[in-house]
Amino acid sequence: MARHLITSALPYINGIKHLGNMVGSMLPADVYSRYLRQRGHEVLYICATDEHGTPAELAAKEQGVPVDAFCTDAHHQQKAIYDGFNLAFDYFGRSSSPQNHEITQEIARELKANGFIEERSIRQVYSIADGRFLPDRYIIGTCPHCGYDKARGDQCENCTRVLDPTDLIDARSAISSSSNLEVRETKHLFLLQSALAGEVEAWVDERADNWPVLASSIARKWLTEGLHDRAITRDLDWGVPVPADTWPDLAAEGKVFYVWFDAPIEYIGATKEWADQDPANRDWRSWWWESDADVHYTQFMGKDNVPFHSVMFPATLLGTRAPWKKVDVIKAFNWLNYYGGKFSTSQRRGVFTHDALDILPADYWRYFMMANAPESDDSSFTWEHFTATVNKDLADTLGNFVNRVLSFSKKRFGEEVPAGAEPGDAEAKLGEEIARLLAEYESQMEAIQFRKAAAALRALWSAGNSYLEEKAPWLEIKTNPEGAALTLRTAMNLIHLYAVVSEPFIPTSARKMREAFSLENDTATWVTPDEARSLASVPAGTPFTIPPVLFAKLTDEDLESYKERFGGESA
Ligand code: 2FM
Ligand code: ZN
Repeated sequence: MARHLITSALPYINGIKHLGNMVGSMLPADVYSRYLRQRGHEVLYICATDEHGTPAELAAKEQGVPVDAFCTDAHHQQKAIYDGFNLAFDYFGRSSSPQNHEITQEIARELKANGFIEERSIRQVYSIADGRFLPDRYIIGTCPHCGYDKARGDQCENCTRVLDPTDLIDARSAISSSSNLEVRETKHLFLLQSALAGEVEAWVDERADNWPVLASSIARKWLTEGLHDRAITRDLDWGVPVPADTWPDLAAEGKVFYVWFDAPIEYIGATKEWADQDPANRDWRSWWWESDADVHYTQFMGKDNVPFHSVMFPATLLGTRAPWKKVDVIKAFNWLNYYGGKFSTSQRRGVFTHDALDILPADYWRYFMMANAPESDDSSFTWEHFTATVNKDLADTLGNFVNRVLSFSKKRFGEEVPAGAEPGDAEAKLGEEIARLLAEYESQMEAIQFRKAAAALRALWSAGNSYLEEKAPWLEIKTNPEGAALTLRTAMNLIHLYAVVSEPFIPTSARKMREAFSLENDTATWVTPDEARSLASVPAGTPFTIPPVLFAKLTDEDLESYKERFGGESA
């Protein structure tokens, strides 16, 4: 058994996330963590809100609340939604925690001591009315390319062109609207990534062959473009302050670290937050320090995050010369689109996580998203596809099987699993098929290929339906009641097996299925293909109950109402 450290990209604090964010980070990390736990591994799944940076500061300003209060509130809001999705984090932290401050500052000191951080002067826009330097996003003006009059200093939202603040026409401060701006010299810290380029390249070469191809191809492409030195400080009120003991001048000017410097360090920070809650029993260093061979570390993220995790964060950790654990496998995702266009937080286009839970329970979403995860390519969400998948796979193939078998058995044989005949050829054939499909399912989960894993799971469910159609116990009962009892007992064993192996995808429904049987010491511990072959974990005589309908069938009216509420093609 191994120790698995798992992290998913930290969701930005501002705004509720949409399904596209969820499918590319937290949900797959949860499915994978659940699977590994069931297989008996020691798992630590860590996530947190990513709280620093200009978007948080601006969002708080817009609402007229202090930024720390804004973040506390938004953190709890997001956490409640993730609980609703049944994301079983071992810890969900906050990048603004004291632990992250401390570790980020320590790492920066080490980088300086090793010659990988340097102070450099740059020219930056200063607002005289605000008495401060303005980050690029804090400067607003007219785009020189398209004439949009609210373009930001880093990028024009209208034509998407990347800008320099000095490109803007009629530039003004986003804080005070003052146009009394001038360019002044100021100092910032730079991470000398160019000096670490060779090491990072060797590090990537050593392991990227083991990553699913999307992540390794992005990492390699990024490396061929060359590693440049990068400014890692900003002029903001909110963030991890540059430590005064090491850089007194910059600290006095109120510089903080750039959000992309402290955010990945929060993977470590949140682990310490977790350990600090129970220091006698939890050791954060055992996950992060000198644990290269002992811990297997997998990260989950959308493809835009890959450069930061495959190149920049490893460069940061390598430059400390300390034995920090570095990632073993990066699993990245393409985009989930909404009717072929982008999900958009700013335009509120698509399905947002709180709205999703408002209309249907988490398992519907969990299954649909993972079965259609954007792994090899971008994939598109449509309500038509969603309702058809729910109806076919969840309601018909799985839910109906469970209900049909248990109801019929109860009616003909009472409330205990019937005994009946000994297994024959049909059961042997079924056992082989189940063992084969389960082995396929396991190997896809080990390879972190969720679409293929979901297809194997679906095939397991279908095998039960085929067996039932073939044996037709509702006919068998007329001429061979012992045979019908065997069929139902076998089918009930399938239900129990489905309960165990479906848990990573649909934990709530899986639990209901498992709890239909009153077995002593029943747990969701994994069943191997060899154990599954005999289909005998639920013996005759086991009392059972019929769970309420597991998955409601979605009607045409449901479909229309979703499209009306969220906008279909027209959104
Ligand atoms: O892209 C994002 O949503 C970022 N908040 C991800 C940060 S991941 C990590 F480095 F913290
Ligand atoms: Zn423009």
